Amino acid sequence: MPDSEPQVLSSYGVESQTTDLPSQPCVMVIFGASGDLTKRLLVPAIYNLACDGLLSDNFVLFGYARSELTTETFRAQMNEDIKKFHTRQKFDQDVWDKLVSRFYYMFGECDDLTYFEKLKIEVANLGAKYKTNGNVLFYFAMAPRFFGPLCDNLYKSGFRESEGWRRIIVEKPFGTDLESALKLNREVLAHWDENQIYRVDHYLGKETVQNLLAFRFSNGIFEPLWNKNYIDNIQFNVSEEVDVGARGGYYDSSGVLRDMMQNHMFQMLAYLCMEQPGSFEPDAIRNEKAKLLQAVRVYTPEEVQRYVVRGQYGPQVDETGTVIKAGYRQEKDVPSESRTETYAAARFHIDNWRWEGTPIYLRSGKALWKRGTEVVVEFKKPPQALFRGTPVPQLHANRLIFHVQPYQGIEVQFQAKVPGPTLQLQPVNMRFSYAEAFKASRYTGYEVMLYSCSHGDATLFSRGDLVEAAWRVAQPLLDYWEATPAENFPNYARGSWGPKEASNLVERDGRRWFEVVTADLLKRVALFQDGDMLFLSQVIQALRPRMAEAGEMIIRKGEIGREMYLLARGEVEVLDDSGKVMKILKDGDFFGEVALLMSTPRMANVRTRTSCDLFVLNKVDFNRILHDHPQFAQGVMEVAKERYSVK
Ligand code: BG6
Repeated sequence: MPDSEPQVLSSYGVESQTTDLPSQPCVMVIFGASGDLTKRLLVPAIYNLACDGLLSDNFVLFGYARSELTTETFRAQMNEDIKKFHTRQKFDQDVWDKLVSRFYYMFGECDDLTYFEKLKIEVANLGAKYKTNGNVLFYFAMAPRFFGPLCDNLYKSGFRESEGWRRIIVEKPFGTDLESALKLNREVLAHWDENQIYRVDHYLGKETVQNLLAFRFSNGIFEPLWNKNYIDNIQFNVSEEVDVGARGGYYDSSGVLRDMMQNHMFQMLAYLCMEQPGSFEPDAIRNEKAKLLQAVRVYTPEEVQRYVVRGQYGPQVDETGTVIKAGYRQEKDVPSESRTETYAAARFHIDNWRWEGTPIYLRSGKALWKRGTEVVVEFKKPPQALFRGTPVPQLHANRLIFHVQPYQGIEVQFQAKVPGPTLQLQPVNMRFSYAEAFKASRYTGYEVMLYSCSHGDATLFSRGDLVEAAWRVAQPLLDYWEATPAENFPNYARGSWGPKEASNLVERDGRRWFEVVTADLLKRVALFQDGDMLFLSQVIQALRPRMAEAGEMIIRKGEIGREMYLLARGEVEVLDDSGKVMKILKDGDFFGEVALLMSTPRMANVRTRTSCDLFVLNKVDFNRILHDHPQFAQGVMEVAKERYSVK
């Protein structure tokens, strides 16, 4: 690692000492130290480093903010907060006591040089007392409008000239559009060098994101396939179950494109699609990331209209129309006419040799049905013609799925022959799970960033040109949306899979979003509640998602039944010949099973009453699962008997 000097092991956390060197000695000055980030993430991360023997004995934390605290009251506050926010199973009081005794505080303004002169003296004194070799790490945990003045004042007060290293970690968001990002870059680079600036993207601190790179370049079997010739499409999905909560004020001026896509998702995209770097040196990796982002097509307004979908969540209502949970426009600090997007889905093009023509789909949203971040690499299918004359109705694509969170692992999906005398196939998977392979990590993601910054390793931080390249891609979307405000907001219900337009976007290309369904999600449906793992995993592999708008006819009487449906969310109505509603089915219900069970034509029409999120199980899979799991057959039969008087 650059700059690393041989160091004795840390005397913190001797029980869980690793063979890695501790962080380098330094005074870490946090600007905005009385805010949320310090207590929720930074201090717990520093404490984790200490517990694991990864924090230098010569580390000092110096808090700086406008709140009129003293070192004593700051420490007292941190003593309270750490109990709430530490992530260890067991709290180590000794480690904490030693650590907090090196916390100091000073209050001051960001735009008043006199405070900085005082700060300089304090930092120099602490540096001498704790032998930090003159190293100072500045952490800007403040709004971006302060970054420029902070950089200026640090420079003017003479911090740059002192001995040791000086590094600046800048929190997100780095700009709100291309112009502001360019301006910020100019401001922070006016007196400081690019290699002193560490722009945070906390996704890069996630082990599963870092592993995208490790996976790609440390394994030989995938690289030959990693291009447009073998990969059909790639999907990046970040679903959040949480809504905007108390952050309405911030969020309304941001939206999901700025909040998630331009930063976190483009970082994952770059890791997954970039060329191999010449080495694992930070700049070798960042050069390739920048090249990749520069190859993403910058859309014209027509292309934005064609390839990008936006959404905003509306309220969740019960069957009587009563609001159970508010929609986005009713959230605190959000204007009642807000046009801010809380969801976006897009198809991007990477115009380079490796990826030309391969669709790259991204989608993310708040207040969705589940939390899950996944990257799905879908390979091209083999020719179906080979299976002519066999009972195999269709071939599924092979998929490589990176589960980033909350489940952490990697999965390869392929087809296997179902044991038996005829040739039947079932999708199956090979799975690597972090929980089974490694000791559970208790990290928040900030540990590794602080640690590597102290060693001068910028791999996990964004570089100025990278940030600008990402804004260049995002800017036409922002411009188009500003020029043509959404007319149809809100356009997805809270707790749903998102707006139907998002599924149309990929269906138009003859593809589908891949929904990662877990056993826990399936168990929300009564029929699957007591299912064992074998049964659930067979069902999971076989389900296909389908979104429907209100008023769509899903099943028509008299037709041959080829599928059964599980209603994940929404309401459908079962209609008789005259169009009279005989029954209304809701979340967790299923329908369409009778024609499959009895091999009879459809007995009724089924139409959606609201927009619906459905899982579809085709007949071949349905029959196989019935055959393998008699208890499932029994459950389905019981419902069918009761519902349609089937004998
Ligand atoms: C932040 C966004 O950067 O990332 C939040 O501002 C979002 O809106 C969060 O919820 C998601 O991070 P994670 O680590 O929970 O996926």
